[in-house]
Amino acid sequence: TILVLDFGSQYSHLITRRLRELNIYSEMLPCTQKIADLHFQPKGIILSGGPYSVYEDGAPHVDPAAFDLGVPILGICYGLQEMAWNFGKNVLAGEKREYGHANLKIERHSGKEEHIDRLFEGVEDDIEVWMSHGDKLSKLPDNFHPIASTANAPFAGIASMSRPYFGIQFHPEVTHTPRGTQILSNFAVKICKARQDWTMEKFVDKEIERIRAMVGPKGQVIGAVSGGVDSTVAAKLMQEAIGDRFHAVLVDNGVLRLNEAETVKETLTKHLGINLTVVDASDLFLGRLKGVSDPETKRKIIGNTFIEVFQDKAKAIADAAANSPRAGDIEWLLQGTLYPDVIESISFKGPSATIKTHHNVGGLLENMHLKLIEPLRELFKDEVRALGTNLGIPEDLVWRHPFPGPGLAIRILGEVNESQLKIARQADKIFIDEIVSAGLYRKISQAFAALLPVKAVGVMGDKRVHAQVIALRAVETTDFMTADWFPFNGEFLKRVSNRIVNEVDGVCRVMYDVTSKPPGTIEME
Ligand code: XMP
Repeated sequence: TILVLDFGSQYSHLITRRLRELNIYSEMLPCTQKIADLHFQPKGIILSGGPYSVYEDGAPHVDPAAFDLGVPILGICYGLQEMAWNFGKNVLAGEKREYGHANLKIERHSGKEEHIDRLFEGVEDDIEVWMSHGDKLSKLPDNFHPIASTANAPFAGIASMSRPYFGIQFHPEVTHTPRGTQILSNFAVKICKARQDWTMEKFVDKEIERIRAMVGPKGQVIGAVSGGVDSTVAAKLMQEAIGDRFHAVLVDNGVLRLNEAETVKETLTKHLGINLTVVDASDLFLGRLKGVSDPETKRKIIGNTFIEVFQDKAKAIADAAANSPRAGDIEWLLQGTLYPDVIESISFKGPSATIKTHHNVGGLLENMHLKLIEPLRELFKDEVRALGTNLGIPEDLVWRHPFPGPGLAIRILGEVNESQLKIARQADKIFIDEIVSAGLYRKISQAFAALLPVKAVGVMGDKRVHAQVIALRAVETTDFMTADWFPFNGEFLKRVSNRIVNEVDGVCRVMYDVTSKPPGTIEME
């Protein structure tokens, strides 16, 4: 195990992610962790970056006992400064912030100090790295040697001559440092001798064990599922851990896609054995959406109604559970939060401060006195997909595009009603089916058909028609923060357009949205 001590950098979780890619098990704990309280003996320690300055009052510091463990330590960014601070307090505010790409020159040593070269073994002498810091070392701590420099930072890499301690000012964990994984591998594998035996199966076993220990032998958990990959993977993991003591609830809000509630129900119950309750609240949602065309108002209505419906159902399930002979109250709420959803990284204040309560469930946690359980909060999307595959979740679900909570309501511009829903559902189905048949589904990050609230003139069967317009949207993105429209070929667009105009009543034109994000958003509302 490599112990990662988190000083609050936005990149801290990337360190554990890179180690997992190297099949190395790591545990990330807050930087205030007392070494004496560790329940395992780490093979090495990584001190992460962080937003503080080591010389400031109240700046977080590593337990000095870490330096008595006799294991290798690597300090990254703040971690390097922390190491230097520990051995001589030589850190200053730099005159110039260094942010972005930098060229790193590696200094090799020969003779008796050779061991300090091991961090950069197999790496070229001149590499590109990613920097993000304001402070820098003013002077080397005693017994340390420089092992790398940049134009702005003469001590961009340092190593102790007497002990296996290394510090680097740049971030090896980000992809903008192309040789970063090699450097982390050198530290973890060559220097710490960490075992490379971590696998997704082991993650599953460990996580199941952790859930069981947390929930206890009688504890019950409830959670909303949508049929999307995150909530399904989280639900399946719970099912594996505690069986029917996990209660999944699918709320049909009336703005789901064609046959979506039925399909999701079938997959979750028949294929995955999840204890699922479907609540059909379509009428309630659609009733409240009647006459509403402002996008924000639509979102609020759907969000609030969802909380209401879910809360009612949760109470009913909780009451039934409490009266059952197996007893045990529902104490926990499952959320399929992924690491990228965990926006704030203020973990040094203690784990509770890091919990981001999804606005959908905040009230639920308080009103029902539920505690949050988030088994995926360490993972990134691609890891969740690998986990889903490992848990036997069907491929098409594992690779499903994201679908927003407000559903088709934000893809039907203007007022939402049954007739508009019918058009949007049919057009979307045709578009997605064609994308799947063309083998493009996985290349595209998200695709859908939106229905515009305007009519255009067309001619069909020698008759003039006045009907609505469908806008197709398909984007490629890695983080959904920026996105590019997908370059379909003309033949494909021709086929989709032809089918929609011919098969969907009420539509006479099809447009393709060629707006990137920004300035567009992915959804149309
Ligand atoms: P935008 O439209 O903001 O979307 O570029 C970025 C990603 O977020 C999804 N999205 C939502 N998901 N509730 C959700 O659960 C919402 O209210 C919501 N709005 C947008 C969108 O589908 C895309 O993947």
